[in-house]
Amino acid sequence: MPTPSTSHANVTVIDHPLVQHKLTIMRDKQTSTASFRRLLREISLLLCYEVTRNLELTTLEIETPLEAMQAPVLAGKKLVFASILRAGNGLLEGMLDLVPSARVAHVGLYRDHKTLEAIEYYFKAPDDMSNRLVIVVDPMLATANSATAAIEKLKERGATNLRFLCLLAAPEGIDAFTTAHPDVPVYTAAIDSHLNEKGYIVPGLGDAGDRMYGTK
Ligand code: PRP
Ligand code: URA
Repeated sequence: MPTPSTSHANVTVIDHPLVQHKLTIMRDKQTSTASFRRLLREISLLLCYEVTRNLELTTLEIETPLEAMQAPVLAGKKLVFASILRAGNGLLEGMLDLVPSARVAHVGLYRDHKTLEAIEYYFKAPDDMSNRLVIVVDPMLATANSATAAIEKLKERGATNLRFLCLLAAPEGIDAFTTAHPDVPVYTAAIDSHLNEKGYIVPGLGDAGDRMYGTK
């Protein structure tokens, strides 16, 4: 079972050994772009499994080759996965493999390198988000400016039931995010030491988008 963080309310650390092992390889600066992308996709399957662990079930009458039975199926409306571009797409793809019927929102944001403010450049989401669980994905929660802005926008468009899933979080980002959105649980594979003066997570893994796409 994932571990609730003892120091941060509403934060769950997904400490599954396979997640931790793959994350270590991703952190290593020697890891190639191709391996980084493959590992992120593999990890996304494991993270998706944990973030959906307590979804509600209902039953459906089916017939097996032997007899009729009431069998469990997911209850409620289809999920929405909201990817914070670009790096969120590295988590999104694997999650859609596990939940192919999910709806998808894209929130285009980049960090201004000087101010670290999130600048929006794109937004497209399903119309009816009010009765759906919306799982927002981005590998990195650093200052939390991006995640906070993305969730504000999704709430403005009607989302009420949200979760935030990332790979790495800084303690500063968790504090800022849980203050801004105390109703949104955070799931992460690790909480690192701190942010450096440029707003990078330390020890971290560097710039997730650049490492995924080989842009630096
Ligand atoms: C990275 C990352 C997050 C954001 C986290 O994206 O994927 O979206 O930084 O930082 P924050 O918590 O301080 O806002 P970036 O802005 O580099 O854009 P990219 O995904 O297009 O590379
Ligand atoms: N965004 C990243 O990709 N990495 C960090 O360490 C901080 C923000």
